[in-house]
Amino acid sequence: MEDCEYSIKKLKQWFVAQQRDLPWRGNPSPYAVWVSEVMLQQTQVAVVVPYFERWMRLFPTIEALAKAPIEAVLKEWEGLGYYARARNLHEGARTIVEHYHGKIPTSAEKLKEIKGLGDYTVGAILSFAYHQRVAAVDGNVMRVLVRYYCLSDDISKGPTQKKIRALANELLPQDESWIVNEALIELGATICARMPKCEKCPLRETCMAYAMGKAEQLPIKSVKIATQLLFRLVPVIFSQGKVLVGCGVKGKVMADLFEFPYFDIDNAPGEIEDQVVMMREKLKLDLALSAKWQQVMPQVKHSFTRYRALLMPHLYIAKEPKEIPGYDWFTIEELMSKPFSSGHRRIFADVQSLQFAS
Ligand code: ADE
Repeated sequence: MEDCEYSIKKLKQWFVAQQRDLPWRGNPSPYAVWVSEVMLQQTQVAVVVPYFERWMRLFPTIEALAKAPIEAVLKEWEGLGYYARARNLHEGARTIVEHYHGKIPTSAEKLKEIKGLGDYTVGAILSFAYHQRVAAVDGNVMRVLVRYYCLSDDISKGPTQKKIRALANELLPQDESWIVNEALIELGATICARMPKCEKCPLRETCMAYAMGKAEQLPIKSVKIATQLLFRLVPVIFSQGKVLVGCGVKGKVMADLFEFPYFDIDNAPGEIEDQVVMMREKLKLDLALSAKWQQVMPQVKHSFTRYRALLMPHLYIAKEPKEIPGYDWFTIEELMSKPFSSGHRRIFADVQSLQFAS
């Protein structure tokens, strides 16, 4: 226990001196904590900062977010990926306005009922915004504690995570527990990273994994999510100044996001000619559209959730903007305000730079 008090003192001293200046730190509103923590869930701090700042300018309050159309919300999220996070924030804002007069609840039970809020985000809101003595254990903190206590339990297992959350709750001091939570996150993000920089760590003297020479081997994580490769032919079809795009179906990964039509194929056909032949077939069969091939466009690699997609776009011109179920024809200008999935947004950027599209 003495060790623990000593470690906490060292940790706080280190944090006060070394912490990064981030826009959601200081004395953040519950809303700012919520937005920043959701953005940080699967995205690096450096990427999040400009998104967070723009988001807070555009949707400065929960009411503003609740009132905004989902299309505008997704447009702001464009490029961050894992769009369910944005949809949940939007739905959560509507719930909070409807049921809690626009004030984020102060109890874990009520917070957990809000869409998208898990143990970590609930802990972060209660700790950073309301200064309650509650742990906020994300992947960073988990790594720090597993090493500090030299735990060889598998952190992909629920019971291990529960045990670590309990340990975190125990070690929090009565005073300024929110600083300790933030300091643990900061330590995990900057020093006790996947490759630990033990020589710079304020907890080196008391860290059990360091003492046993095991810091680099921990944590143990058995479950690795297998990634799946996707190969997609993407026809970018112009007709009379408009382009054909579809909008992802509700409940699916890309719900409410715009994408060009695409066809999944089993393997990446190496030769451009093979792609053209396959695409001709698909255009006829799947879209019942006759369009004239113009040119191949740059390939785009795009990762989302557990997929890694290779997008192979080709430019076409169709005589008429024929009606096709599930798709619509838009001008480039109209498309500029639409939210695209990350990969298709990059294709759209290439489309905009085509001389022909201006
Ligand atoms: N990662 C998750 N939460 C964070 C926070 N509040 N500050 C920095 N990195 C984080």
